[in-house]
Amino acid sequence: MSNSIFRTKSVEQSIAETDEPGHRLKKELTVFDLTVFGIGVIIGTGIFVLTGKQAAINAGPAIVISFILAAIVCGLAALCYAEFASTVPVAGSAYTFGYATLGEFIAWIIGWDLALELGLGAAVVARGWSSYLHSLLNLPDWLAGDKAIPDFGAIFIVAVCAALGVVGAKISGRVTAVLVAIKIAVVLFVIALGAFFIKAANYSPYIPPAVPAKVEEGGATPLIQLLLGITPQHYGLWGILAASSIVFFAYIGFDIVATTAEETKNPQRDLPRGIIGSLVICTILYAAVSFVITGMANYKQLDTGAPLALAFELVGQDWAAKLISLGAICGITTVVLVLMLGQSRVLFAMSRDRLLPEKLAAVHPRYGTPWIITIVTSVIIAILAAFLDLTKLSELTSIGTLFAFVVVSIGVVVLRRTRPDLHRSFRVPWVPFLPIVAVLACLWLMLNLPVDTWIRFVIWMLIGLALYFPYGRRHSRLARSSTPSYD
Ligand code: ALA
Repeated sequence: MSNSIFRTKSVEQSIAETDEPGHRLKKELTVFDLTVFGIGVIIGTGIFVLTGKQAAINAGPAIVISFILAAIVCGLAALCYAEFASTVPVAGSAYTFGYATLGEFIAWIIGWDLALELGLGAAVVARGWSSYLHSLLNLPDWLAGDKAIPDFGAIFIVAVCAALGVVGAKISGRVTAVLVAIKIAVVLFVIALGAFFIKAANYSPYIPPAVPAKVEEGGATPLIQLLLGITPQHYGLWGILAASSIVFFAYIGFDIVATTAEETKNPQRDLPRGIIGSLVICTILYAAVSFVITGMANYKQLDTGAPLALAFELVGQDWAAKLISLGAICGITTVVLVLMLGQSRVLFAMSRDRLLPEKLAAVHPRYGTPWIITIVTSVIIAILAAFLDLTKLSELTSIGTLFAFVVVSIGVVVLRRTRPDLHRSFRVPWVPFLPIVAVLACLWLMLNLPVDTWIRFVIWMLIGLALYFPYGRRHSRLARSSTPSYD
């Protein structure tokens, strides 16, 4: 069976390989580091940019409901992520988990999909960073912000994060802690000061009545509206749902905590705590920020690259707008950093398994980081961030992430059946009921994403298949190993 695309790698084998010389990452993260890391990557362009755009285009003040719906879906998936991360604590997140449960082919698909999620996610966030830089320094439109092509602000931040990634997780971790503190302070500042400027009139109507979408928006129609034969529309109930699958982006990151399992001191206890803790904190903050912002300004005014700053300008508080832009710049930096770190760890795990060229997995002799992968991916991210539209990129990131959540939730059920003996310090309640609900909820959000996003996603996955069969399948470590496979 060693040639089978369903060959699996045992959990024990996965853990043992992390100790091989030349491929070993340092184990030094604690539960505090993980929560900081989680919040560091979760709060970013999603709340700072997409909140305004989606309130303006799709949900109106009911964007708060969109955030809460997305949080429920993430909560379900987070429970599944927590179980797998506490069972298979090695680098590579859902990829490694897929390898241990559903076989090499599915693992490849997840790894390829995660590379999309993390790489594009980093590009989206770099663009958001650049929008706030544009707002803070009143830069010309051609240089930075959502109108700049190429966006030099985005290229700059990707380059800085690439350098930090090569120098090592420890320095990045310290930088992250300071920046996360600033970011939380800014978010609390927006909520506390903004609350004084809320006008009840801005909440009326709370759910703006549905209006038909413009004909030229074609592929931007959510797939579900097309499938159900509904006239494509903005606002109303469908608008809240469409916004929900787009602001879902704002929660991406708790899953990335799982990619650091191999660098965590006590992964089985600390990972579930870090994942769930950071998700809960962010949900509360998001609901409060979106409530305040849509109370400060009419939702239609918020379709801009830096809506949190704009809301304060509109109420005559320019000093606060500048402070928020500065805080956003510091805070969003950590998101770019962590997404890029996460992507290099997934690709690192795939190259260590030789599904990608093994040379990519080389660890830097002095810094102990996967430096070649970091540099290669950073160049690609910089190019994407320089030229592509923020919302379109974010939709593609979300569909990729939701797909990974679906696979992980199924994997939890499979591993319970195939390896009931494994120690799980965190167990999802009501298996298989809860994971099944998680799968359906993720699929539901995916269906609310636009048709053109679906098409791009399918093309990316087909490219992945075209690479796996000629390369990964033949070079895979499992295919070449003399040890029996674990089918
Ligand atoms: N959740 C992260 C953000 O909103 C990716 O920027």
